[in-house]
Amino acid sequence: AAKRKPLVAGNWKMNFDHLEATYFVQKLSWLLKDARFNYRRCEVALFPSFTSLRSVQVLVEADKIHIKYGAQAVSVTNQGAFTGDISADMIAHLGCSYVIIGHSERRKYHPEDDANIVDQVRAVLAAGMRPILCVGESFEERRQGIELDFAVGQVRDVTRDLNEDEAAKLIVAYEPVWAIGTGMVATPDSAQDAAHAIRADLEQTFNADVANSVRILYGGSVTSKNAAELIGEPDVDGFLVGGASLDANEFARICRIA
Ligand code: G3P
Repeated sequence: AAKRKPLVAGNWKMNFDHLEATYFVQKLSWLLKDARFNYRRCEVALFPSFTSLRSVQVLVEADKIHIKYGAQAVSVTNQGAFTGDISADMIAHLGCSYVIIGHSERRKYHPEDDANIVDQVRAVLAAGMRPILCVGESFEERRQGIELDFAVGQVRDVTRDLNEDEAAKLIVAYEPVWAIGTGMVATPDSAQDAAHAIRADLEQTFNADVANSVRILYGGSVTSKNAAELIGEPDVDGFLVGGASLDANEFARICRIA
């Protein structure tokens, strides 16, 4: 993981209202300041609910906090009669750097198929942000031994519609579905195997520059207990953290490890 700047991303999912969110950001920033955390060596990003983004923006700008933030989902259209949807421009205007796309919970509970996911990636890139594309097999694919092909296939479904410049801006989060919220973390070896397979495929589809610039995160039951081993793998460039990102002390520990 030497060549790419690590990224530790906290996906809060549907937790924290805007008051809890701003309190958390303040606390995390104090904890990292105390630990003399070097944001130039490792990026930290939080993913609050839409309803908290404006409060987080105001706080981050007023206090010059170096923590980045983004949204957990985005509409594929830019404006119009789409009740309840939020456009990429609206998200970008709140100072967001990233948008999580294709999280397995979205794929499961919302009609997000591959075409829709590609359109979300395009919308995010067009608005000047970076997509964090989530991929990963369920227990069934792992049982059949096809987990690497499955995850690589999910990435390819998106990259086949992108050019080199667009692909280079992607961040991929490998999140095996069986590891999400279960306490069953992938072994460092299997996280590395998946990240390596994804990177090798990017090199084949595009070139070595694209493959070397795309950051590949691991997600699924990451804690401060398993983070060091995982980040020690050459193709693992950081984490997408769920449960452990809801505790500022624990999340700060993971940031320091990365
Ligand atoms: O997006 C992060 C997530 O799905 C992993 O969740 O709770 O297993 O860290 P968790």
